[in-house]
Amino acid sequence: MNKLEELRQFKEKIALGGGQKRIDAQHKKGKLTARERLDILFDDDSFVEIDVFVSHRCTNFDMADTKAPGDGVVTGYGTVDGRLVFAYAQDFTVLGGSLGEYHAEKIVKVQGMALKMGAPIVGLNDSGGARIQEGVNALSGFGKIFYNNTISSGVIPQISVIMGPCAGGAVYSPAITDFIFMVDKTSQMFITGPEVIKTVTGEDISAEQLGGAMTHNSVSGVAHFIGTDDTETLMQVRELLSYMPSNNLETAPIYATNDDPNRMIPEFNDIIPDNPNKAYDVYDIITKIADEGKIFDVMPHYAKNMVTCFIRLDGATVGVIANQPKFGAGCLDINASDKAARFIRRCDAFNIPLLTIEDVPGFLPGADQEYGGIIRHGAKMLYAYCEATVPKVTMILRKAYGGAYIGMCNKELGSDMVLAWPSAQIAVMGAAGAANIVFKKDIKAADDPEAKRQEKIAEYEERFNNPYRAAEMGYVDDIIEPATARQRIISALDMLSTKRESLPAKKHGNIPL
Ligand code: HXC
Repeated sequence: MNKLEELRQFKEKIALGGGQKRIDAQHKKGKLTARERLDILFDDDSFVEIDVFVSHRCTNFDMADTKAPGDGVVTGYGTVDGRLVFAYAQDFTVLGGSLGEYHAEKIVKVQGMALKMGAPIVGLNDSGGARIQEGVNALSGFGKIFYNNTISSGVIPQISVIMGPCAGGAVYSPAITDFIFMVDKTSQMFITGPEVIKTVTGEDISAEQLGGAMTHNSVSGVAHFIGTDDTETLMQVRELLSYMPSNNLETAPIYATNDDPNRMIPEFNDIIPDNPNKAYDVYDIITKIADEGKIFDVMPHYAKNMVTCFIRLDGATVGVIANQPKFGAGCLDINASDKAARFIRRCDAFNIPLLTIEDVPGFLPGADQEYGGIIRHGAKMLYAYCEATVPKVTMILRKAYGGAYIGMCNKELGSDMVLAWPSAQIAVMGAAGAANIVFKKDIKAADDPEAKRQEKIAEYEERFNNPYRAAEMGYVDDIIEPATARQRIISALDMLSTKRESLPAKKHGNIPL
């Protein structure tokens, strides 16, 4: 056999991973193989594999005679929409994708390359965790990956896709990265699996219930996106990458659009219900503002009272943080604060301007919230807004009450442009609550207390439940006709595009975690 033929055969054999039987088993579970997944993630024929020939050097148990093609992980680089991206994909057909010393070294190598080249890295996780036969060498490998994840955080986008089991300490690499995708029904994440839980606590729970994609998307908030199958999930990853710059020194790519930046939205002039207690769907507002009505929702199933999503305005990526009156009146609570704070920091790290859309009656009252640490969690959001130096535009649609008014990026938190609609109500609290407290004595002493109460509510509304007092004092930069919202936001972001703001030199801040 000539050398060329030998090379070809060698590579073909390695490409078969754990062999046809295991590939078939993978397909039977509704999962694709590592290489099939990479083919979908990357532009056609652009993926270049490196470290194809790396294998384990373990001799424990029967490992000396065990072949592990690629040591259970495929690593390399390619392009997504023409831009450089690095990736690794664990190959479940080889020793269950378990992570041994050299499997880890391959991941560490592409992590280092991605950081050096300033390009995003995508990890496709499908693994039985630490390779049991390799003992502490496997644990050391995980440690190196976590370290690189942390050092790369805020420098290059790091995306994790969970496409099979991800258990024990293995979950912490994805958890440190910027975004986690999970595939519905075929992926699970947990620190301890159902069997251990049953043994230790007696609790009976299925793997899916415990750590399935919907659990982490809607209950724990660990994952940010869910796809119905491998293909759909990987297409979502491609889409997310289109909203991100390659690194923290760049801005996200501009996508040409035919959507007029001066497009008026006449229906906005009467979209806010007259009754302040009536809900509406803030997605109707965001989609009408966005180029071509397109949004990329981040954590759509978690803390639905807060919407965080990417849109494009005049072709450029913008991160939107919006209260959702349709859920829990758009109150701020623990989960909404966490969701918003993380999103704000992602955007700030990657030079993505922030658009805050506000209609918030306040922080959610209740012992549950206080015991859960709403003070600590709410503080994250305030902190994230204050330290963000990207352009910040705030648009107040209706309620902007109390601490939540500040929390949703008011002027003092560094908003560069606060635009209020005529329907805005900027006050310490709602009129009814305020009248009950401030005019308590007057109401009690009146011949007709209820009539007096209504009179005082009306008086308070007249004075504070509008944007004019705040605008008189410069807390609001302008009160705008709602129909002009898209035009005014784009104009503000255009004006802010050269914004430069730096924070005092420090090792790092101390965000309340
Ligand atoms: C070595 C492993 C392995 C592991 C699976 N395999 N996990 N080999 N180390 N951790 C091998 C199996 O022996 C099998 O080999 C093949 O992979 C497929 O596994 P199956 O069990 O047949 O597949 P399935 O039924 O789909 O079950 C998948 C599974 C299960 C749920 C992941 O394999 C499992 O529970 N594995 C152990 C998980 C675990 O406890 N890992 C350690 C976590 S602790 P053959 O040759 O038969 O195909 C950890 C610490 C990290 O990760 C700490 C970081 C700080």
